[in-house]
Amino acid sequence: MAAPEEALWERDDHTEGKHLVLEEYLKAWFPILGTAKANQRILFVDGFAGPGEYAGGEEGSPVVAMRVLAEHAARERINAEVVFVFIEKDAKRADHLKGLRDEWLPKLPERTRIRVLNDSFPSVMDEVLKELAEEKAQMAPALVMMDPFGIRDVPLTVIAGILANPKCEVYVTFMWEQMNRFLTALEFESHLDEMFDTTVWRKAISMQGDERRRHLYLLYRAQLKKAGAKHVLPFHLFKGQRRKYSLFFATGHVLGSDRMKKAMWKIAPFGDFSFRGGTADQLVMLGVAEPDFRVLREALHRRFAGAGWVKIQEVLNFVRSDETMFHDSQVKVPVLKPMEKTGKIEVRRRTGQRRFKYPNGCRIRFL
Ligand SMILES: C[S@@+](CC[C@H](N)C(=O)[O-])C[C@H]1O[C@@H](n2cnc3c(N)ncnc32)[C@H](O)[C@@H]1O
Repeated sequence: MAAPEEALWERDDHTEGKHLVLEEYLKAWFPILGTAKANQRILFVDGFAGPGEYAGGEEGSPVVAMRVLAEHAARERINAEVVFVFIEKDAKRADHLKGLRDEWLPKLPERTRIRVLNDSFPSVMDEVLKELAEEKAQMAPALVMMDPFGIRDVPLTVIAGILANPKCEVYVTFMWEQMNRFLTALEFESHLDEMFDTTVWRKAISMQGDERRRHLYLLYRAQLKKAGAKHVLPFHLFKGQRRKYSLFFATGHVLGSDRMKKAMWKIAPFGDFSFRGGTADQLVMLGVAEPDFRVLREALHRRFAGAGWVKIQEVLNFVRSDETMFHDSQVKVPVLKPMEKTGKIEVRRRTGQRRFKYPNGCRIRFL
């Protein structure tokens, strides 16, 4: 979309998918990070925060995040100080967001701080990362969302600086449609160089259709890994048949990957990690959505056949990683149990442990 001029703008239908995934992920993220004794502070940074709501009154990402914490059943167990940092370059939007911050702050746990910065994301982050480097300090565990209208101001070097901190993750918008349309425009060159931190994206100029898309998506994924991510997961937003943009989640932690896949499956129950407005929900209600677990069975077989006896934990971590599209609740009953029943796996359990259960410590051989 062309960047709107006004402070608040109409929300597109597909935008909802971005917020639904964020909401589901934060429901897991706040208690996991916020109750860990080691974490005195956790940060949710919304680097392109917007005004906090849309012209029709729908919530923007900062309000989604504050609401998830305000309504969380585990909010009393969260010992860490939760800091929301909302960065917004446009003064009118930042002011609007400050108004919403004032409304939400009293509803949040006592140890919550909210900072609204009327500034530009890369300059704020550059400053923060420079200070941390000078003090040889680490950033507190953080989820950093980067959701610009276009492709500028999301340099990969900043993402690398964030991911260099062990519990920091990013959720970044990849503006596919705009990128595809303006790939040859001279004014975009330097932004694309910054975004990919390489000039290899230029190869896509001579490509068309799926080949071009595959090249740019795989390149971005590879560059995020080079920037420090161990797991990279894309989620796609469609308007009808048109792929508008995608969100890339990048993390260093296998549990982050697993929880994000759970969030994505909840919003996209076909397992295609795509959101198309309201259609998916209707099909679930009709009972059409049914994950195809054959894909996971085959992936497990490819990975572990011939590997001897493997610990269940190793199997689960493989599934949690970005090497599969599945998450760990989809392993035991839907996949291992039928595989054991049909003799595709053998299981070594301690005496007294029941068949078709896969507790920690059991070992599996894929035949
Ligand atoms: C797509 S909107 C964000 C929407 C918001 N994340 C949400 O989901 O509700 C992008 C916002 O980034 C702001 N912006 C543009 N360039 C920026 C920059 N360099 N730093 C911070 N904010 C910026 C725009 O004014 C706009 O409000």
